[in-house]
Amino acid sequence: MGYQIAIDGPAGAGKSTIAKLLAKKKGFVYVDTGAMYRGLAYYFLSRGIQPQEEAAIAKACNDVSIDIAYENGIQQIYVNHVNVTCHLREEAVGNMASRSSGIAVVRAKLLELQRDLAEKENVVMDGRDIGTSVLPDADLKIFLTASVDTRARRRYNELLEKGESCDYEKIASDIEERDRRDMTRDISPLCQAEDARLVDSSDMTIEEVVETIESFCRESE
Ligand code: C5P
Repeated sequence: MGYQIAIDGPAGAGKSTIAKLLAKKKGFVYVDTGAMYRGLAYYFLSRGIQPQEEAAIAKACNDVSIDIAYENGIQQIYVNHVNVTCHLREEAVGNMASRSSGIAVVRAKLLELQRDLAEKENVVMDGRDIGTSVLPDADLKIFLTASVDTRARRRYNELLEKGESCDYEKIASDIEERDRRDMTRDISPLCQAEDARLVDSSDMTIEEVVETIESFCRESE
């Protein structure tokens, strides 16, 4: 069993940026579990399934294979042996992932894949239920959060930089809606594990967050 760092928190708290940097610094493998939910979501959409069609999602889940691989250190998602990574950040895919992640068979399928990865390697794994459900014995658990306003502002600036048109109010209400779905679902809802360290990044730079987590690592070693 490798060393396991679990980072959970709501959408837009900066988990993937932080987890990636931390993994690089420590020479660990970064596992982005959200990308796995997005990979399946992309598949459901490509089959013409709508987010509210839960029975169809559950059925499609039984017929699909999902694998991950690393190319130049970057995680790639394969669905039925096709690399779908370039589609995962699309808005419709995120929306479908947020819905389909509440369905039992979807979670069960990915849980196995996630635990297998953490068996073999030292990992920094980020998601919503890593510390509470996927890796309950992780060596270090972080709950990374930030205010809705901070998260919406970051997303807004990100989209502006990409030259995409965006509406701050819409972004903020989408974030609130995603939080609500993640926190209120029956299976593995988003919550802080009892033994997780809370980091609120609202008034912190990326470097400060990484340094804080590294100092927790040193304490736990
Ligand atoms: O983190 P990201 O936005 O890529 O995650 C996509 C969706 O997958 C989230 O909206 C969340 O509902 C779901 N998810 C989850 N459990 C995880 C990771 C992501 O339910 N461990």
